[in-house]
Parts: sequence; C-alpha cells; structure tokens
Amino acid sequence: MKAAIITERGAAPQVGEFREPTAQDGAVLIDVDTAGLGGWDTLGAYRLGVSFPCVIRGEGVGRRVADGQRVYFGERSVQPFGAWAERTLVPAEEVWEVPDDVDDRTAISMGIAATGAIVPLEQAHIQKGENVLVLGATGTLGQIALQLARHFGAGRVVGAARSQPALARLQERGIADAVVQLGGPDDVAALKEASNGGFDVVLDLVCGQPLLSSLKATRWGARIMTVGTGAGRQIQLDMADLLFRTLSTVGTGQRPPADRRAIWERLLELARSPGIVLEYADYTLDQAAQAWAAQLSGPHAKIVATVSPHGRRFA
Ligand SMILES: NC(=O)c1ccc[n+]([C@@H]2O[C@H](COP(=O)([O-])OP(=O)(O)OC[C@H]3O[C@@H](n4cnc5c(N)ncnc54)[C@H](OP(=O)(O)O)[C@@H]3O)[C@@H](O)[C@H]2O)c1
Repeated sequence: MKAAIITERGAAPQVGEFREPTAQDGAVLIDVDTAGLGGWDTLGAYRLGVSFPCVIRGEGVGRRVADGQRVYFGERSVQPFGAWAERTLVPAEEVWEVPDDVDDRTAISMGIAATGAIVPLEQAHIQKGENVLVLGATGTLGQIALQLARHFGAGRVVGAARSQPALARLQERGIADAVVQLGGPDDVAALKEASNGGFDVVLDLVCGQPLLSSLKATRWGARIMTVGTGAGRQIQLDMADLLFRTLSTVGTGQRPPADRRAIWERLLELARSPGIVLEYADYTLDQAAQAWAAQLSGPHAKIVATVSPHGRRFA
C-alpha cells in the first residue's frame, strides 16, 4: 500500500510502498480517507518507543474494513502503522463512529487539538467577564481555544504569538478582541496594555519566555495553564510573579480512551453550536514531505491530507 514513511529518528517522511496491516484481535482495520498532522506528530519522530521504519502516526477518518462504517481514530495506530497510509490498524477502543453531519476535517480537529484546548480551559473555571490570554494563539489549539474561552464566558479574549499577519487574521475573523505580537522591545508592557487591568486566565501553549512575560500581566487569583513547550521547556521563574496565582501543567493524551471519546463527542456538539471555525491547510498523501515541512515551520492552520477520494468535505 502507499504510505508516508519515516525511516529514522528525526527524518522527514517519504511516500512509498509499505506492508499492509493484517487483522489482529482487539484492533480494527481502517481504510483511511483523510489524515491529520499536528505538532505532536513531528515531535513523535523523536519520541522513544517508536520503531522505524513507521508510517506517520497522525489521526484520521476512514472506513472500517469489516462493515464500511465511517470512523475517527487517534494517533494510536498499532505500530508501525499510522494515519498517513491507505490502510491502518487501530486498537478497538480508539475507533469512534463519526456522525453523518460531521465532515472529516472537523472530526480530526476536534480530536487531539481541541481536547488539548478544552480540558485546561475547563480546569481554569473561567468566570463571566474574565480576561483570558492565549499564548501561541495563531496555531490550531490557539484558534480553537480563543473560541472556547468566549463560549465559557470570557469577557475579553486576547491572542499572542509572533507572526503579525497570522495575528491580524485572528482579529479579522473576530475570534480575538486584541492581539499582541511577541518578541518586541517590551512584551510585558504590550501584554499589560492588552489585558485591560490584568489577565485572569492564561492558556499557555508555548512556555519559555512568553509564559514568564505573561505572568507579569496577570491579576491575583489568575489561573495559568501550560500545555505546550514550543518556546522552551526550561524557565527561570521568579516565585514572586506566581504568588496568589496558580500554575498548572495539563496533559490530555494519557487519559483513558472512554474519557477522550466523551470529550470528543462534546466537542463535536460545540463545533455545531456555537460553532468552532478553524483555518486548514490541505494536502494529499503524495505531498506528505511538504505537509511535514509546513508543520515544522508553523502553518497557522490545521494540516489535513486527502488519502482517498471517499473523504467527506462539506462546503
Ligand atoms: N498537553 C496536551 O494535552 C496537548 C494536547 C495537544 C497539543 N499540545 C501541545 O500544544 C502546543 C500547540 O499545539 P498546536 O497544534 O496548536 O501547535 P501549532 O499549530 O504549531 O501552534 C503553536 C503556535 O505557537 C506560536 N509559537 C511558537 N513558538 C513561539 C514562541 N517562541 N513565542 C511565541 N509564540 C510561539 C506559533 O505562532 P507564531 O508563528 O505566530 O509565533 C504557533 O502558531 C504544542 O506544543 C502541542 O504539542 C498539548
């Protein structure tokens, strides 16, 4: 079968022939229609426990070989298989039926990415009218988080990142009330000015210096939720900046499958109403190397690839 294959740790994928998975107890064979890519996949090429060569793991939507049922599956394909191939094999508890009115791209983006946004935002218990900052707002989680924060009652929603054109898009789309371009002469002053008296909640998708700068723009009682480390994993924290505030690190991937499935089903409802709108970057399986390079350089969009013509797209 055709697949996007990673041959060694850190290598870019190449499209070629890969052996087909065969039936296995407790796992489901799936003909893939649409595959997704996220930051965790490009990082996954370096993770311990991945054997090479392997297919890009990804997440996706396809049809169960046994009965043709349309299903979503997360990044846990049985090794060495994955979403970026014509066929994959996935543990049965990770295979979830997709409602007819949900298109492939929505089913995928409400998976790993939206789960990574909704769990920390709910743990932050946003109160009506509070000021919320999203650090790394231009990426997939960021775009989703801005919309969820508003839905949970935030009064002012501010997005921060480095790319000015990508930040401007957030404002054009009306999903951020204000934006802050990080990396300027005084990020702390810029964040304070945008905060209207201080942030109550910070959803931190990047860590590093942006996290440290944001702490100085928070109010007492602020909840800071860190879920990603793209701007650096080690920080020199002045404890005084954290006094009377809480900092939590939140991971969602290790939750039991039934929990993640219930969260995904709730997110599909929220995607219907009030609606969650994302920017996408569309590729084909043959363009896996380009999609991979785009993910590494920061696409400001959710990357998805057409694997078969059966994929479901709505206007
Ligand atoms: N903990 C969990 O359960 C969980 C679940 C899912 C995802 N995650 C993590 O969440 C993070 C975000 O995922 P994603 O898919 O949204 O990634 P993404 O699409 O790459 O977006 C990250 C955004 O952060 C901004 N950024 C990167 N480096 C920055 C820096 N040094 N300073 C300021 N902004 C920076 C980038 O925007 P600019 O280019 O505009 O700066 C980028 O758009 C990733 O680290 C991912 O692994 C965690």
